Amino acid sequence: MSTILAIETSCDETAVAVINNRTVCSSVVTSQIPIHKQYGGVVPEIASRQHLETINSAIALALEQAQRPITKIDAVAVTCAPGLVGALMVGISAAKTLAILHNLPLIGVHHLEGHIYANCLSEPSLEPPFLSLLVSGGHTSLIYVKDCGEYETLGQTHDDAAGEAFDKVARLLELGYPGGPEIDKLAQIGNPQAFKLPEGKISLANGKFHPYDSSFSGLKTAVLRLVQKVKQDNGVFPVGDIAASFQETVAKSLTKRAIACATDFGLDTIAVGGGVAANSGLRQHLQAAAKEHNLRVLFPPMKYCTDNAAMIGCAAAEHFNRGHTSPITLAGRSRLPLTDVMQLYQQ
Ligand code: KG4
Ligand code: ZN
Repeated sequence: MSTILAIETSCDETAVAVINNRTVCSSVVTSQIPIHKQYGGVVPEIASRQHLETINSAIALALEQAQRPITKIDAVAVTCAPGLVGALMVGISAAKTLAILHNLPLIGVHHLEGHIYANCLSEPSLEPPFLSLLVSGGHTSLIYVKDCGEYETLGQTHDDAAGEAFDKVARLLELGYPGGPEIDKLAQIGNPQAFKLPEGKISLANGKFHPYDSSFSGLKTAVLRLVQKVKQDNGVFPVGDIAASFQETVAKSLTKRAIACATDFGLDTIAVGGGVAANSGLRQHLQAAAKEHNLRVLFPPMKYCTDNAAMIGCAAAEHFNRGHTSPITLAGRSRLPLTDVMQLYQQ
């Protein structure tokens, strides 16, 4: 069993973890959210600088908490795509330096593969094939996980990602950044049936709707209109009811698509990943629907839903166990389809 030091700097968390196969030995996550909050979103240049300031101490802390000197590490893993290139470069440079200095194999990891394999931290026996519902700040997709490194996209969003929709609606409701946790909190005190909002269906040429694809921009516009109307009518702003109705619509829409997709493709497990996997509405709806359809639904532990390095270590362990390592010329890429992930490894 190999022990991997994993680094994640693709966005606004500087994260380092030590993973022994599917067991977390340590996980350090330094969030930049308080810094970016004042700008209402992530500022790439500030993110890179913050990663640079934090990365060395995060590595030292992760090793110390795992009680492992670097000499007891078998490989170094790092997120190399997709993400903010300047931010990715900080993690990649640190990982390459450790790999060269200590003569360790380097494993580049696709960020979304990390979110998929975060489910191993709640269910260590998880093995493909299964369906992954990926719902993060930048992605909303249904992925057929055939094997580690072998993916097929079955459904996706045509505009905003689920997390992005939460963040944008939170801004409309004058809540803080990131919006997902704020809306989730407010939704607890609101009535989810208070407002009927559009689900965002994608039409097909034959007049039917795409069973797995989604759209959230219409929903976001509907919330905007609602906010404007409510303000104009009486000025009283039922923010809890709007948050609850919005969350309910997103949760139902994702649940419907995930269940249809798993059923149609004969997959008995749905593994959810990405920041929106922390959402209480989605958890409730999907768990209830999965039970009804005799499907197993998995969510990562709450602290491993949003960005962290433990999930990167889990995905890296899968690749390392299959002999996949990356060249020292590994580059950071802002985009890389999950289906092309094997490009990261030397043949
Ligand atoms: O996976 P993640 O940490 O970063 C990306 O890879 O994008 O996801 C961040 C996203 C943000 O849009 C945030 O608002 C959303 O996840 N999020 C949530 C919740 N916690 C985080 N959305 C809904 N409910 C939550 N509880
Ligand atoms: Zn993420």
